[in-house]
Amino acid sequence: MEVKKVEKLLSGKKILIMGAANKRSIAWGCAQAMLDNGAELIFTYQNERLKKSLLRLVSNEERLVECDVSKDESIAQAFATISEKFGKIDGIVHAIAFAKKDELAGDIMNSSREGYALAQDISAYSLIAVAKYAIKLLKNPASIVTLTYFGSERAIPNYNVMGVAKAALEANVRYLARDMAKYGVRVNAISAGAVKTLAVTGVKDHGELLRISEERTVDGKSVTTKEIGGTAAFLVSDLSTGVVGDTIYVDKGVHLI
Ligand SMILES: NC(=O)c1ccc[n+]([C@@H]2O[C@H](COP(=O)([O-])OP(=O)(O)OC[C@H]3O[C@@H](n4cnc5c(N)ncnc54)[C@H](O)[C@@H]3O)[C@@H](O)[C@H]2O)c1
Repeated sequence: MEVKKVEKLLSGKKILIMGAANKRSIAWGCAQAMLDNGAELIFTYQNERLKKSLLRLVSNEERLVECDVSKDESIAQAFATISEKFGKIDGIVHAIAFAKKDELAGDIMNSSREGYALAQDISAYSLIAVAKYAIKLLKNPASIVTLTYFGSERAIPNYNVMGVAKAALEANVRYLARDMAKYGVRVNAISAGAVKTLAVTGVKDHGELLRISEERTVDGKSVTTKEIGGTAAFLVSDLSTGVVGDTIYVDKGVHLI
């Protein structure tokens, strides 16, 4: 009798994870879910400090590539390095956002022009920049997944410029999904529930934000980064080929209640 090899959901898929800063990062939850499902992973890090942090999670330095999304040269160099070392890839998780702390407090009228632009640049435009430099490297079919938050739709206290950036990011997903379809690339977003990560601690009164979010889940327990990662694994897999340009909530029902 012929013994069949058991294939996992992401066996043979090479996925690039952008934005894993430490073990609490949503990107790290995505990485774990993808590893469990048989994917081969490559990681980008923002700078040397974050590389050190990431090395505590991923011992194989060969798999880590520097990429600061605020600089086109850095993105171009990162994708050139990835191409040289790993060849074509099947998917990208973009889990990157930034706004200055003083933009994530108080009234949005006090946002500065620079602070607003910076949040847009790193948190929304970067998806377009990544798509632009990645296009030659992505297989056909391939899948890009980004991370957004409900603050794009509702005025969440103190979230301010980041909420506006997330609304732009979700629009970017729709336009990119339309324009990348001809290359066989799907683009989608996950609207994740609030979880305690480094990024959240930049928001004033984030303790209250996390407490209220947890209270409003259907079972009173916050979504985990692994649960968010499970949906990311689905979105980079061939199970989701019909999902295009969409934003999927993974927040245990917070957006309903
Ligand atoms: N934590 C939450 O509650 C929550 C909820 C919904 C969506 N999100 C989104 O998930 C994504 C990941 O955030 P997280 O919560 O895991 O926090 P995190 O702090 O662990 O990750 C943010 C990442 O963005 C990276 N980054 C920032 N500026 C960069 C730059 N110039 N170049 C390259 N990388 C840069 C950081 O290095 C870090 O790895 C973000 O888009 C965030 O808005 C978070």
